[in-house]
Amino acid sequence: MAARREHFGGRSAAILALAGSAIGLGNIWRFPYMVGQTGGAAFIIIYLASCLLLSLPIFLAEAIIGHRTHAGTFGAMERLAPGMKWKWLGLLTVLSPLVILSYYSVVGGWSIGYLWQSLTAGFHLDEIGAVSSAFGRFVAEPWVPLLFHTLFLGGCAWIVSAGVKSGIERFNKITMPLLFLLIVMIMVYSLTLPGARAGVEYLLKPDFSKITPSAVAAAMGQSFFSLSLGVGTILTYASYIRRDENILVTGLGTVGFDLLFALIAGFAIMPAVFAAGIEPGAGPGLIFETLPYIFAKMGASAPWLSGLVAVLFFVTIVFAAFTSAISMYEVGVAYLVEQRGLSRHKATVLIFLGCWILGALCSLSFGPLSGTHIFGLTIFNFCDRLTSNFLMTFGGLLFVIFVGWKMDKTAVRDEFTCGGTARFNTAVFGAFWFLLRYLAPLAILIIFITNFLA
Ligand code: PFF
Repeated sequence: MAARREHFGGRSAAILALAGSAIGLGNIWRFPYMVGQTGGAAFIIIYLASCLLLSLPIFLAEAIIGHRTHAGTFGAMERLAPGMKWKWLGLLTVLSPLVILSYYSVVGGWSIGYLWQSLTAGFHLDEIGAVSSAFGRFVAEPWVPLLFHTLFLGGCAWIVSAGVKSGIERFNKITMPLLFLLIVMIMVYSLTLPGARAGVEYLLKPDFSKITPSAVAAAMGQSFFSLSLGVGTILTYASYIRRDENILVTGLGTVGFDLLFALIAGFAIMPAVFAAGIEPGAGPGLIFETLPYIFAKMGASAPWLSGLVAVLFFVTIVFAAFTSAISMYEVGVAYLVEQRGLSRHKATVLIFLGCWILGALCSLSFGPLSGTHIFGLTIFNFCDRLTSNFLMTFGGLLFVIFVGWKMDKTAVRDEFTCGGTARFNTAVFGAFWFLLRYLAPLAILIIFITNFLA
C-alpha cells in the first residue's frame, strides 16, 4: 500500500474534478434530446427530482466509502469489510470503468477527428444524407479512427501519469471553466439564429402527458450516467478529498454544475438544430451528423463564423470527454498502484495497453469487425450496453446496499456530518439515511428491470 497518498488541493479543486468526471458526452448528446422527447420542462422537473432524491444519495454513498478509507475501490472495500465477498464489488468497479473508457476513447477519438476537420477542411456537404454517409465512411475506415483513439487515450495517459495534483487536478482546473465559457458562447450564438425559438420551445414547453413510468425510469437512468455513478470513479476521486472536507457540499456542487451544464448544452444545441429545420435525434448521430450538417448549412451564408463555431463546439466535446475519461482511467491506476504495488508510470502504461486493445476492437467493429457479434450486438454496442445498462446500475445498487445496510451507521453519520460539526448536514442526515436505505435500492431496481426489458 502506498504510504503517502496525494490529495486534491481544496474544495474547489475537488468539485471541479468531480464535475469534470460528471460532465461529458452524456450531457451533450443525450440530455437535450431526452428533454425534448420526454415532456420538456416537465421532464426537467423530474430530472431535477431524481438528481436530488436518487442520484445525490448514491453519489454520497460512494463518496463516503472513498473519503472514509482514503483508498481506491478495491482497497476501500477490503478495509471496510475485510475478508468478505464485498471485495468482488471492489474488483467489479475497477473493471467496469475501464470497459467504458475503452469505447469512450473511440468516441473521444472521433471528436478529435472532427475537430481536426473543422480546423482544416471545414464542413461543406450540404445534404444531411451526404453528411451521414461521410460519418459512416469515417468510422468504417480502419486506420484513421484507430489513430485518433490512440491520440485520445494517449492524452489521458499523459494527464493521469502526471499524478492527482499535477495531472488530474491541474487539467480540470484549466478546462472546466473553459468548458463553461465555450458552451455559454455557443448558446448565445445559437439563440440568436433565426428560427431558434422552436428549439427553446422544444426544451421548455411542459407536456405532462409525456411523463410516463418509462420516462421517469429514463430520467433516473440519465442522472445515473451523467453523474458517473456505480463504477467507482466518484469513490476514487472522493478518496483524494481532504479529511476535513464537507462531502455534502462537494456532492451538491457537483450535481449543480452537472445539471447547469446539461441545461446550457440543451440551449446551445436544440435552437441550432431547429433553426436548420431538422428533427433532433440522440446519440453519435447528433454530434457527428446533425451538427456538421448545421455547420455546413450555416457556412453557405457565413463561412467564417460557422467555421469558428464548429471549432469551438468540437473543442468543447473533446475536453468534456477528456475530463470524464481521466476519471475512469484513474480508477484502474489507483488499483494497480495501491494493491499491486506498481509505480504510477507503469500502471498508466498497463491500463493504456489494455484499454487500447479493447477500444481498437470497438473501433474496428464499425468496419472490418462489423460482422462479429456478442449476444447479437457489435463489440462497441455490447460494451456500451453492458456497462451503461447493467454494470453501472448493478454497482450502484451494491454501493447503496453496502453503505445503507452493511456499514456501521455511526461511521456513515460521522462522514456525512463531518464528525457532527456540520449543523445543516446533521439536520438532513435522517432524510439522507431514508433515501439511501429505501428509495435508492428500489429506484435502481426499477431502472435495472426497465433496462433489462428494453
Ligand atoms: N458522466 C459521463 C458523461 O456524462 O458523459 C460519463 C461517465 C464518466 C460514465 C465516468 C462513467 C464514468 F465512470
